[in-house]
Amino acid sequence: MSTSLTGAGSQLSGHFSGLRKSFLKLDNSNFNSTQSFFQNVDSHLRLSSSRKGCRAVVTMAGSGKFFVGGNWKCNGTKDSISKLVSDLNSATLESDVDVVVAPPFVYLDQVKNSLTDRIEIAAQNCWTGKGGAFTGEISVEQLKDLGCKWVVLGHSERRHIIGETDKFIGTKAAYALSQNLGVIACIGELLEEREAGKTFDVCFQHMKAFADAVPSWDNIVIAYEPVWAIGTGKVATPEQAQEVHVAVRDWLSKNVSAEVASKTRIIYGGSVNGGNCAELAKQEDIDGFLVGGASLKGPEFATIINSVTSKKVAA
Ligand code: PGA
Repeated sequence: MSTSLTGAGSQLSGHFSGLRKSFLKLDNSNFNSTQSFFQNVDSHLRLSSSRKGCRAVVTMAGSGKFFVGGNWKCNGTKDSISKLVSDLNSATLESDVDVVVAPPFVYLDQVKNSLTDRIEIAAQNCWTGKGGAFTGEISVEQLKDLGCKWVVLGHSERRHIIGETDKFIGTKAAYALSQNLGVIACIGELLEEREAGKTFDVCFQHMKAFADAVPSWDNIVIAYEPVWAIGTGKVATPEQAQEVHVAVRDWLSKNVSAEVASKTRIIYGGSVNGGNCAELAKQEDIDGFLVGGASLKGPEFATIINSVTSKKVAA
């Protein structure tokens, strides 16, 4: 494992050249404080010893490109969406970020036809298999026909309001991937689950359901979205988010592979806005965001996309 993590590290520094790598410069004068810094980081993040070498040379744990998704949910009209698209088209966006928006189904075509190609389109849901006699459903084939590249699956609103199960979500994920549609796979705990100390159990259960269903992680982005933070204005602290992100990455390393753990983007969602994104983005296992409310405002969404600069260090 340490060999492949070292490999992932060099791949990473290549990909993120110019980003905040090696801010931990060792010299004799600050050795003691550096040593206690490592002890502090280790105890705080509960790193396994095999990961220390990787973290000493780079501060971005994953090797994937920063990823920001806007989930417009069941919001908007033809007019408001046309204004949002025009704001996004005129925004200046950092280049080293994958950007995706998920409009309501009925506006997918309008958005695809008017939005810059710099931003990819996602659907907010899809059917479990090939289309046919499934009243009210939308098939993966239809989404691809409209130019969608991604689908959001396992969102807490679908798990807890609509009642979708792990198995149902896993079936959709497997089918979407089989048709080359990328999956933004959402996981996350309810407030009572967090308070009962079950955050990791719940997140790992969601992860296992995806892992059991999908043949490959190549086209999956994981969105950690604590349900108590979604649409509530109560954002997780950077430390709370980082703690789960590092645990999820370790889960992938142990249950899938070190390579998948390194390259899979783990993004955070739940009341992300223009004011809190920079501090969250600085966390080494936060590889981007899934944004609800704040993605409905073009300039604020652009600020969140551009928070990738928080990962850069002064030369
Ligand atoms: P929020 O939603 O940013 O409005 O909290 C996030 C999400 O549901 O993806």
